[in-house]
Amino acid sequence: MLVHTIEEVREQIKKWKKEGLTVGLVPTMGALHAGHKSLIVKSVEKCDRTVVSVFVNPIQFCPGEDLDKYPRTLEEDYKLCEAAGVDVVFAPSPKEMYGEGHILSNDFLTYVIPPYFYVNKLCGKSRVGHFDGVCTVVNKLFNIVQPDYAFFGQKDAQQLVIIRKMVKDLNIPVEVVPCPIVREESGLALSSRNKYLSGEEKEYALALSKILFNIKSCYSRGIVDTGALAETAYAYLNEHHSLEYLEFLDADTLEEKQTADDNTRVFIAVKIGTVRLIDNILLSDK
Ligand code: PAF
Repeated sequence: MLVHTIEEVREQIKKWKKEGLTVGLVPTMGALHAGHKSLIVKSVEKCDRTVVSVFVNPIQFCPGEDLDKYPRTLEEDYKLCEAAGVDVVFAPSPKEMYGEGHILSNDFLTYVIPPYFYVNKLCGKSRVGHFDGVCTVVNKLFNIVQPDYAFFGQKDAQQLVIIRKMVKDLNIPVEVVPCPIVREESGLALSSRNKYLSGEEKEYALALSKILFNIKSCYSRGIVDTGALAETAYAYLNEHHSLEYLEFLDADTLEEKQTADDNTRVFIAVKIGTVRLIDNILLSDK
């Protein structure tokens, strides 16, 4: 079922809760690919009912980012969801979610602001306000759908840590289920933004996963100094890459690591042409 209003979702959820059914939520911005599908499959397996939200959330885009050109493919998204056994696809308009308020000014909207420590690094450094927008919309979706479980991809690992922190700090009664990154055979992590890459740029994009796999392999051979591990990245970078960050942080707390261990996650962001790509790996990942 495709619904566009909060009221329709609420009605449906009320019925399910009355029947004692568990509800899974997969929040997305649409342009669904195999990565999203893996989250949906997990939810359908684990929960009696699954809701997928499809909403390109305007308040998590910074000025000058790709809000207007972000791919919107609701018809295909709906087909994928239906085939995967999703019960409700919730695709609200910005007005349904925020009223007219945010269009006038952010001063007219209540925000959920995650802690500075988790935000002043990685993507949060260049995308100022991004995680305020993410936490605000995810909190709203939790309130609208009241899911027992919510499924998020490890691809956006900083987002996942921040959402878990929000759930804990605000005592939100939902279990966050992390799901592994899905990669093309080439190693490229799936992302809706891969659609922006030309054939040539897609080749350059392989540097991200190659750097991460190589660092993991160096770590498994005993190199633990993160400075030395970071040095190995340069062999994969050329004039087509603009490295935004390569950081070694604790996977749960996002604290910086000088010495790598099994719970270290390596985060990378690279701009290729105008396209900004991110990827990450846990050093103890199989
Ligand atoms: O990861 C995403 O696609 C978005 O940040 C999310 C969680 C759906 C919130 O808009």
